[in-house]
Amino acid sequence: MIDEEYRRQNRAAWDRLSDGSQFAHRATDEECLDPIKTLDGRGWLPKSVAGMDVLCLASGGGWQSILYAAAGARVTVVDLSEGMLSLDEREAARRRLSVKTIHASMDDLSMLQDQSFDIVHQPVSTCYVPDLLRVYSEIARVCRDGGVYISQHKQPTSAQITHRNERNHFVIGIEYYHEGPLPRTEDTSYRERGAVEYLHRWDELVGGLCRSGFVIEDLREPRRADPKAPVEHFGYRGRFIPPYVRMKARRLPRTTQPDPRTPQIWIP
Ligand SMILES: C[S@@+](CC[C@H](N)C(=O)[O-])C[C@H]1O[C@@H](n2cnc3c(N)ncnc32)[C@H](O)[C@@H]1O
Repeated sequence: MIDEEYRRQNRAAWDRLSDGSQFAHRATDEECLDPIKTLDGRGWLPKSVAGMDVLCLASGGGWQSILYAAAGARVTVVDLSEGMLSLDEREAARRRLSVKTIHASMDDLSMLQDQSFDIVHQPVSTCYVPDLLRVYSEIARVCRDGGVYISQHKQPTSAQITHRNERNHFVIGIEYYHEGPLPRTEDTSYRERGAVEYLHRWDELVGGLCRSGFVIEDLREPRRADPKAPVEHFGYRGRFIPPYVRMKARRLPRTTQPDPRTPQIWIP
């Protein structure tokens, strides 16, 4: 697959999903009453983000951007899908909020200046690009020293599942070291129709983040297990394989850049 092909296919897939899918859920009036709490039940964000520069990366759809803007931040949204970005624009205009939208891919943020953001917030989306380190290095470049990077990703084991056997056991049909786009699978619980996806290993997800100039301050596995869910439901699947990982990382000051060959401890 040529370099641009995954972008073309994913743009088309997400333009379709911008039309009424669960990912195109705009922030409600109630959510906007306490936007920081809505965005962040874990206390990862500062009490106030007013006046901060926030990059909502691959988060088109009118949820994250609107909440940050409602909390007084200066918001930029970067997304591959014009359909998703139009939802941010429409919702911002309706609420008289200011949100800047940029149509671009997360692995090329060359239109953004070095050290221009205090917070980078990225929902599940790194699975749509082949080279995670390229994304991390772009985020490290645009993030200010001490800035926060909040991200959520698909777990590799979840990406390895291809189908269920006759006893409803989940079958790992894709190798951990699989390179290139993931093959289409029968089990589409955590895959988006028409999208090209890639498996990112723990070495890249967690180690890559540390090697890119961040320290990880917290890591969570959002619980999607539902003990009452029928076997064909994604809540049943979540009892066996956690689909996501969420991380809070902080940009190391450039003066204390780690040597990627040596483990570092940084005391803030
Ligand atoms: C799971 S949705 C997240 C958006 C949504 N606001 C949410 O949290 O539910 C993933 C987003 O990633 C975007 N995306 C996919 N590939 C991308 C890329 N290469 N660069 C930037 N955005 C991308 C999609 O257009 C989509 O808006």
